[in-house]
Amino acid sequence: MSAGPPAQTDRDDASGDRSSGNESTATPVRYEEVSKRYPGADHDAVHRLSLEVPAGEICVLVGPSGCGKTTAMRMVNRTVEMTSGEIFIGDRSVRQGDAAELRREIGYVIQQIGLFPHRTIAENIGTVPSLLGWKQAEIEQRVEKLLELIGLDPEFGDRYPSQLSGGQQQRVGVARALAVDPPVMLMDEPFGAIDPINRSRLQNEFLRLQAELGKTVLFVTHDVDEAIKMGDRIAVLRKGGEVAQFATPTELLMEPADDFVEDFVGADRALKRLALMRVKDASLWKAPICLAGDPTGPVRSDLAGAEVPHALLVDSGRRPLGWLSERDLAAPQVPSRPDTPADPLIDADSILRDGLATLLQSGSQYAPVVDGNGRLGGVLSVEIVADFLSSGEAAESELAAVDRPHE
Ligand SMILES: Nc1ncnc2c1ncn2[C@@H]1O[C@H](COP(=O)(O)OP(=O)(O)O)[C@@H](O)[C@H]1O
Ligand SMILES: [Mg+2]
Repeated sequence: MSAGPPAQTDRDDASGDRSSGNESTATPVRYEEVSKRYPGADHDAVHRLSLEVPAGEICVLVGPSGCGKTTAMRMVNRTVEMTSGEIFIGDRSVRQGDAAELRREIGYVIQQIGLFPHRTIAENIGTVPSLLGWKQAEIEQRVEKLLELIGLDPEFGDRYPSQLSGGQQQRVGVARALAVDPPVMLMDEPFGAIDPINRSRLQNEFLRLQAELGKTVLFVTHDVDEAIKMGDRIAVLRKGGEVAQFATPTELLMEPADDFVEDFVGADRALKRLALMRVKDASLWKAPICLAGDPTGPVRSDLAGAEVPHALLVDSGRRPLGWLSERDLAAPQVPSRPDTPADPLIDADSILRDGLATLLQSGSQYAPVVDGNGRLGGVLSVEIVADFLSSGEAAESELAAVDRPHE
């Protein structure tokens, strides 16, 4: 159990080393003074947008409805043609070459999914490879791999979209977009039509997938919580497709650039920071630990100066078994079944917000934090969370930690 390194999220870990498991090299995307005015409109839908999305990162475009997010995104694959400016994918302007070809090269996932109802799942996923004239055997191989990647059984390949749940269809939409291993993925409110529980599951899945693939992703949402969860970087847009702030999630929450961003992020932005930190990265407390059969004398003296004023019984693998009561401690030896169960146990990898929720729901003051093997890593208390939220120092180191991995 240690004080832990400064806050770092999974996403930061993932962007650290993208070399392993990558299919293709990710490519940066750069907007240079890009504007779009629709015919007959008296103002730009997107106005002189300049933005650089580093290779292998998820950049979220977020903002109120009608502010130009979809327009900004669609100019990348030229499903909307820009009025002026340039967009580069790597060194290449999207204006070079054929728009239809560009569209096939870039993965595109939308809320309405857009699966072809009369084609099987395998045919849907293989749409672009087929258009590109891949051999049937190659297509089948690719489809099989992608089904595995999105966690669907190979037998799903023969089904039709209507035979799948909304969440499964959305996964297929992601697989289809990944079919030709695109250097860039465009995702327009991809999980917007899914119920909250499945939505959260799909978000987690996509983050896991992205940790493996390291694509450059442009992700559009109007939901600031989704932006904070998904984004390595977030561009908050205001009407007219202008960038109000382009920042990491932490920066956005800590230092909103102006009143518009502050309003948009919400009054609870301090609490939203709890979604940025894993429980294991918090400064967890120590409880005295003991094994069944230990003499209680030393345990009682350990309790005197302990951060957590209760002793925790663990097994030989440091897995928590329960808290010792006064009565337990009055006996000469530590019992094998203490009075109070160790529950709830908190997963060290969960976000601090969920850890706090578990603690509050259980009504206990303290909860053991365990790793994937159930081993004790420390103890979470409400005070730890409160200290984290009120500490300017934590905020500073958090900002530093978020900035570092991108260097
Ligand atoms: N095809 C179109 N023709 C004319 N105006 C459009 C078209 N698509 C979008 N717009 C307008 O452009 C602005 C930005 O729209 P959009 O990019 O869809 O915003 P968002 O995705 O942020 O909701 C809105 O005012 C919208 O009415
Ligand atoms: Mg839109």
